Amino acid sequence: MSKLPCAELHLHIEGTLEPELIFDLAARNGIELPYADLDELRARYEFTDLQSFLDLYYANMDVLRTEADFADMTRAYLARAAAAGVRHVEVMVDPQAHLARGVALETCIQGVAAVLETSEAEFGMSTALIAAFLRDRPQEEASRVLADLLAMNAPIIGIGLDSAELGNPPENFVPLYEQARAAGLKLVAHAGEEGPSHYIEQALDLLLVDRIDHGIRCMDDPELVARLEREQVPLTICPLSNVRLQAVDSLESHPLPLLLEQGLNVSVNSDDPAYFGGYVDDNFAVLRRTFDLNPAQLARLAENSVTASFASAQRKAELF
Ligand code: ADE
Ligand code: ZN
Repeated sequence: MSKLPCAELHLHIEGTLEPELIFDLAARNGIELPYADLDELRARYEFTDLQSFLDLYYANMDVLRTEADFADMTRAYLARAAAAGVRHVEVMVDPQAHLARGVALETCIQGVAAVLETSEAEFGMSTALIAAFLRDRPQEEASRVLADLLAMNAPIIGIGLDSAELGNPPENFVPLYEQARAAGLKLVAHAGEEGPSHYIEQALDLLLVDRIDHGIRCMDDPELVARLEREQVPLTICPLSNVRLQAVDSLESHPLPLLLEQGLNVSVNSDDPAYFGGYVDDNFAVLRRTFDLNPAQLARLAENSVTASFASAQRKAELF
């Protein structure tokens, strides 16, 4: 197992909800789950594409009702990430997924943020929070939620764009990204996970993002790959996620080593570790085994994660 000190930049906190915690929170909140036991739940973790995962991901979130639920989930992730060697994490949260279930914005934001605040003291891990917006819901709703987050002074450093990608291009969210930019927020977006390579170009040219989450479909367009290298656009890549959601045919055919070789800023991340078979150390371990990556290549991946992070210059210097 690799314990390279690194930053994790692509992590959905709701995707860290482990099956055991789902059962614990269901019991605490008096919720009857549609699974008899852990084995029956685990048997559902076979995905054919992004949507098949999202269906389970959103269904399981139903157990998150109180600030304490969000806090317990976040604490469990931080402990596991610290063991994996993560020293800085930028956590995404999906506020709309909770609002749609009647859970207040304050409940999810405060529950996650309060625990992130403790992580420097407890684990020596710096943290930041990114509010991700659901691209399969209307732009107007996203803009309203962002306005509410800003009005409540939510401790977010940036916004992201996630959920079902195909048919929901970045160009639909230009006003949201203008609003976030005007508020001084950092900008990231999932693009080119399942969607075509021109969604990556839209995210860069229309949303003006600082980073692309996934971005692996850039492989379909050599000119785009050259641009990503030239402009050093960070791609936060999630190998186990791509395999489990069948965004790549196999780990062996994953483009990460090629992109690294071509000088792109690619980093290794876990996306939704409770669903995809591992945390960031597990992602590093399978990459190292599969591609026989040497120490210099592994160190470059870890360095890229720091360079691409939104940590302060001082914190970056500490992390290198
Ligand atoms: N939400 C959580 N994980 C996601 C992923 N891998 N792609 C899009 N939306 C997501
Ligand atoms: Zn993701």
